Amino acid sequence: MRKQIAAANWKMNLTLQQGEALLDGIISKPHSLKENQQAVFAVPFPYLAMAQAKLAGKQNVFVAAQNCYSKKSGAYTGEVSVEMLQSLGIQYVVLGHSERREYFHESNQLLADKVNICLEFKMLPIFCCGEPLAIREANTQNEYVAKQLEESLYHLSPDQVQQIVIAYEPIWAIGTGKTASSDQAQEMHAFIRSQLAGKYGVAIADSISILYGGSVKAANAVEIFSQPDVDGGLVGGAALLVDEFVAIINALK
Ligand code: 13P
Repeated sequence: MRKQIAAANWKMNLTLQQGEALLDGIISKPHSLKENQQAVFAVPFPYLAMAQAKLAGKQNVFVAAQNCYSKKSGAYTGEVSVEMLQSLGIQYVVLGHSERREYFHESNQLLADKVNICLEFKMLPIFCCGEPLAIREANTQNEYVAKQLEESLYHLSPDQVQQIVIAYEPIWAIGTGKTASSDQAQEMHAFIRSQLAGKYGVAIADSISILYGGSVKAANAVEIFSQPDVDGGLVGGAALLVDEFVAIINALK
């Protein structure tokens, strides 16, 4: 069975003390993660060590970085390498979030390089894709997302692509309170899976987890996650609230 993942993306929110309190709150609440389920916390770089220490030994719980640089090491002031993350014991990195694509001009090609360096260091990318509103309104979202996948992932070997988690985040649903309907999410997730199947075969496509992101909250998580091709969520705002995120973890199938 595919991994089902509730991933929190804190973005650039919370002080260290608030982050500690949030994690303490979440781990103190009853939540059960079955063997195929994971909770992942993508926290800001300065909090990675804190989160890693707090969550150490918790079964099926992982810490993620929100980004990394595409080069191994060197004179890149202000950047963070995958090797640094690996040395902290981090296992996941969010790549290509729409905010990074928009504000920091990350291209599909740069993301292909980031994917490569992550895999070289055995770091698992949570690769984000998704279309802006104008593309959805023009009904060309399939072509748009297919190109993102093709240009950043399709150079990978079958073994490598199975290390990737995909997060479909329609930009018009991020932080807007506007969620894609569960049908819209399922439709795009099935499309992404069919594209992967076309390139890598059905067995591999069926093994890749595809998360939905965009205004996921406790009130809609069960319905969205129950869709057959939706394998959990990448959650922003609602992941900053203890009860909301615990309920989202518990909504995993
Ligand atoms: P919201 O859940 O706040 O809409 O953010 C989604 C997101 O961007 C997660 O990466």
